[in-house]
Amino acid sequence: MTAARRPEPDDDGDRDGGQPHDGRPDPDGRPDPAEAALDPDRLPGESDLEASLRPRSLAEFVGQARVREQLELVLAGARMRGVPPDHVLLAGPPGLGKTSLAMIIAAELGAAIRLTSGPALERAGDLAAMLSNLVEGDVLFIDEIHRMARPAEELLYLAMEDFRVDVMVGKGPGATSIPLPIAPFTLVGATTRSGQLTSPLRDRFGFTAHLEFYAAADLARVLTRSAAILGVDLHPDGAAEIAGRSRGTPRIANRLLRRVRDFAQVRADGAVTRETARAALAVYDVDELGLDRLDRAVLTALCGSFGGGPVGLTTLAVAVGEEPATVEEVCEPFLVRLGMLARTPRGRVATPQAWEHLGLRPGPGSRGPADPGADGTLFDPE
Ligand SMILES: Nc1ncnc2c1ncn2[C@@H]1O[C@H](COP(=O)(O)OP(=O)(O)OP(=O)(O)O)[C@@H](O)[C@H]1O
Ligand SMILES: [Mg+2]
Repeated sequence: MTAARRPEPDDDGDRDGGQPHDGRPDPDGRPDPAEAALDPDRLPGESDLEASLRPRSLAEFVGQARVREQLELVLAGARMRGVPPDHVLLAGPPGLGKTSLAMIIAAELGAAIRLTSGPALERAGDLAAMLSNLVEGDVLFIDEIHRMARPAEELLYLAMEDFRVDVMVGKGPGATSIPLPIAPFTLVGATTRSGQLTSPLRDRFGFTAHLEFYAAADLARVLTRSAAILGVDLHPDGAAEIAGRSRGTPRIANRLLRRVRDFAQVRADGAVTRETARAALAVYDVDELGLDRLDRAVLTALCGSFGGGPVGLTTLAVAVGEEPATVEEVCEPFLVRLGMLARTPRGRVATPQAWEHLGLRPGPGSRGPADPGADGTLFDPE
């Protein structure tokens, strides 16, 4: 959901947040920690922390019961037949466990994993080099696979289907293509934008796992596991409190846990109870539903200044002093998901839940939640 992700893969194959990447104002070149607490993308410096908290096996992977069961079958079938499993596409919003699952797939197969990412594969040759170095049974993980350059993508079709690449030798009329066999491997692709994948690529995956946002009870289990690893004394009511504010996203849950741990150690006795969690998250401007300052500013402007809408994205963004892209990509998806904001052909509209959350009543002049699009996701024409 960000505009400027760094292209190179890093130690664990994920994009790194090496630069400010959420479109929010960033005067000193660092994200404001309070602002960034709820960013579902990985923040600078978080990759080691995340690596230590990654689940290592399907059994450790919390939640996503359907995906886990489906994957178990795919892997068990392949193991029984003694062949690499079908190519796997992992689709879903940031921070839900795609990279973790890719590593788990390799671990469960006892295979080595090679990591790269779509933006790093600018030229077909980059990919050809990776493919020709694969050993039979390897897992090749391509993160953000929808961002791969077209020539590399076309090379990948053949590799996925026939375990072969055609290498072009020479230029002009004398150029010939030499087929080069590659070892049978399993491609694991991850994408936050499965809609942007071309259909020939999508069709070449034998299995697609759609990751869903996590229920609060599952996030509480993620938190309990992370607390044990980090040595945090997390009480069940503290876990529930943090889970409820984590936007259905394990990455955010783990990040809030670290913030709450700091608070608990500095201002309390170290134990994370419901009260400590509440007090800590108040400091970070994370409310009971997981809305932050900017989310609330958008709702407040929508209801307070524009009578609940409809109002155009640009106007709304100016009202909260943000870039339209930030409002659209950072705030709105979660507000739409909570059913607080609807995107309609005429503009953004606050729903009754938004008024209620702000403790306001739609005034007589407000136009209220006028016919939002059926799924609340129609874009305004602006
Ligand atoms: N099911 C899970 N159980 C336990 N921890 C999880 C789970 N899913 C994710 N996490 C935690 O959340 C963190 C982020 O997960 P991961 O990096 O796999 O997300 P992602 O989907 O690859 O995100 P992105 O789209 O930004 O690449 C991991 O470090 C891991 O600790
Ligand atoms: Mg990832």
